[in-house]
Amino acid sequence: MTSRPEQDMETNVTAVSAADMTDARKGGNTRKVFVRTYGCQMNVYDSERMTDVLAPEGFEATDDLEDADLVILNTCHIREKAAEKVYSELGRIRKVKEERAKSGKDMMVGVAGCVAQAEGEEISRRAPIVDLVVGPQSYHQLPSLLEKARAGSKVVETEFDIDAKFNHLSERAEKQVLKRPPSAFLTVQEGCDKFCTFCVVPYTRGAEVSRSVEQIVSEAERMAAAGVREITLLGQNVNAYHGTSPDGAVWGLGRLLRRLAEIDGLDRLRYTTSHPRDMDDDLIEAHRDLKSLMPYLHLPVQSGSDKILKAMNRRHTRDEYFRLIDRIREVSPDIALSGDFIVGFPGESDQDFEDTMDLIRQVGYGSAFSFKYSSRPGTPGATMDEQVPEDVKSARLAALQALVAEQQKAFNASRLGMTCDVLLEKTGRNPGQLVGKSPWLQPVQLDAPEDLIGSIQAVEIVDIGSNSLFGRLIAGQDDLGRSGRIPAPAA
Ligand code: SAH
Ligand code: SF4
Ligand code: F3S
Repeated sequence: MTSRPEQDMETNVTAVSAADMTDARKGGNTRKVFVRTYGCQMNVYDSERMTDVLAPEGFEATDDLEDADLVILNTCHIREKAAEKVYSELGRIRKVKEERAKSGKDMMVGVAGCVAQAEGEEISRRAPIVDLVVGPQSYHQLPSLLEKARAGSKVVETEFDIDAKFNHLSERAEKQVLKRPPSAFLTVQEGCDKFCTFCVVPYTRGAEVSRSVEQIVSEAERMAAAGVREITLLGQNVNAYHGTSPDGAVWGLGRLLRRLAEIDGLDRLRYTTSHPRDMDDDLIEAHRDLKSLMPYLHLPVQSGSDKILKAMNRRHTRDEYFRLIDRIREVSPDIALSGDFIVGFPGESDQDFEDTMDLIRQVGYGSAFSFKYSSRPGTPGATMDEQVPEDVKSARLAALQALVAEQQKAFNASRLGMTCDVLLEKTGRNPGQLVGKSPWLQPVQLDAPEDLIGSIQAVEIVDIGSNSLFGRLIAGQDDLGRSGRIPAPAA
């Protein structure tokens, strides 16, 4: 669920501009849709797909809530704070809706995502302005559900049918994709059968389902043809991927990556989030064999204590995690490792927490996400004894984050003076500045002309900030030559 550079870690809110995601009929009777996305990248992908589905219905995306005929909150249920945010946002929307009503304009309100799935009807009971509640597997039905809601009924759709979702969402017009290059998400797997005792995902996203190889390859080819250079494959447990190939065989993620690496123009591949149990040899070896598979791995361990790992039902030990990291570093010594940590899981003693700190010291992360344990209704953790007091959780989180910040700084500093490929993605804050991404997923800021956006350039790292690197274009060394947007180097 991560590699979440754009994510606010405490609230788990992902900022995406709805206006970046639009393709609507121009002119005529267009209506405006405002989509706000919370949570993981899978929600970002789903939000894009929702705007795709609504475009032929005449909906154009807007970033301006006041201007919206339809508002969709794509929500996250992972921690209490994330879920509660939805209700405060609905309070704000109610006021805007009332203002619009004064000038005779209507506003429909939909709640999608994991809170929709978990709370269903309860949402419109608690927030009567909500017209439509739609779970993550039903987005392909949005047009007909909206129709019903418009006719006056309160609509709640929370069926699990992942196959139907992807079969219906699979066709994506090239011009819609074109709005979003050069880096894109592609969901290959949804749901989770692991049932970690702290986690709501198996309940909100359902059982693990993998999309077929054919469907994924054809979506990736369309993206590449439209100018996408980098694809991040997504799944709640992306390395548990087991999709059917055209010849009927079942492929794992390693094999899928090898196939995607053959697509012309697709120069960078990533995947997230992985579970230590599903890191098989073929996937590890893909990091050795595939030039386009970027040297970054998000592999959450959650805790460094065997006692807590067991209570969390993580199904692996601390030692097994260390051995896995060794094998990965054997094939890809320079890989940037990332992880997720939970502090204050029920029963976590000072010694258990120390074990986590020790694990972090031994592994050495390039970055990591960390959270205070949040008790989630319906999960086994919620009723466990020995819940940890809030002040203890806060102190542990602060200590862990300080350690990770130190490691991140050291990892970033080790890039100083290096020359690496940077995918240039967008304009920066200052005029003449672009922002791109290093192979290790660090943001890189540099001076470069805007027409280089979408290209991959050789960049020397000349300075290090707290979260990003600063680079300098190496004159005359261009792209892998495929974007066609690279000016010829001066003779
Ligand atoms: N499938 C991934 C992670 C899914 S959720 C995995 O197995 O690692 C993303 C992260 O949110 C988790 O890795 C975990 O660190 C955090 N998280 C999940 N439930 C939580 C809870 N109840 N309280 C605090 N953090 C939680
Ligand atoms: Fe949640 Fe565990 Fe599944 Fe990850 S593996 S989504 S943490 S239940
Ligand atoms: Fe949140 Fe659902 Fe993703 S709970 S983290 S949006 S799978």
